Amino acid sequence: MFITFEGGEGTGKTSIINLIYQDLIKLGYKVYKTREPGGSKIAEQIRDVILDVKNTELDYKAEALLYAASRRQHLMEVVKPKLDDGYVVLCDRYVDSSLAYQGYARGLGIREVLEINRYAIDDYFPNLTIFIDLDPKVGIERIQSNRSSDLNRLDLERMAFHNKVYEGYHELVKMYPERIKVVNGHQTLEEVYKSCYKLVLETLNKGKDK
Ligand code: TYD
Repeated sequence: MFITFEGGEGTGKTSIINLIYQDLIKLGYKVYKTREPGGSKIAEQIRDVILDVKNTELDYKAEALLYAASRRQHLMEVVKPKLDDGYVVLCDRYVDSSLAYQGYARGLGIREVLEINRYAIDDYFPNLTIFIDLDPKVGIERIQSNRSSDLNRLDLERMAFHNKVYEGYHELVKMYPERIKVVNGHQTLEEVYKSCYKLVLETLNKGKDK
């Protein structure tokens, strides 16, 4: 089972993945948690290029291709072997991030970015994608109060960009209603986590029935 978590900045994805990881381990699942961009040595090197605040001249299409390249490397080196080995793989961001950020918010087109990503991921679409739905303004405020010293290049984008990312995710929810499930991010972290965990268990149980 391949489960991905998506959302704008400051949605708490990482904390939620950590909690779900612990729970599934306790239930006896083999679980692997990872993140994008990055998750393997080469993919992390590509991540450094993409997120370097000094790389202001990075072309939008080049950026989309770098994300796809990083995704491919991480998929082949880490995700696919773990899935083949029976692990539940929990991934912080995946293809939908590219569709929302590069495709929709950067204006490259969801379809166009999907095309390069199809080449990168073959048929490796997640079994479940959880989109944490949080007003981007609230997310950015959380980041600024939590880790003001650690803002990356994309954190610094104008608010308009984050609003577009948010709209982009809503387009994806319409495109993939079966795969992408929405969790209300305006609840407490504990409540968001519980809603996500419920969806994860439903998907794992469905997988057992098959
Ligand atoms: P990161 O610090 O990991 O952010 P977060 O904790 O919010 O996941 O930085 C990842 C950034 O890269 C984030 O702003 C989203 C962006 N991104 C894309 O634009 N396209 C992609 O395909 C992926 C995977 C991430």
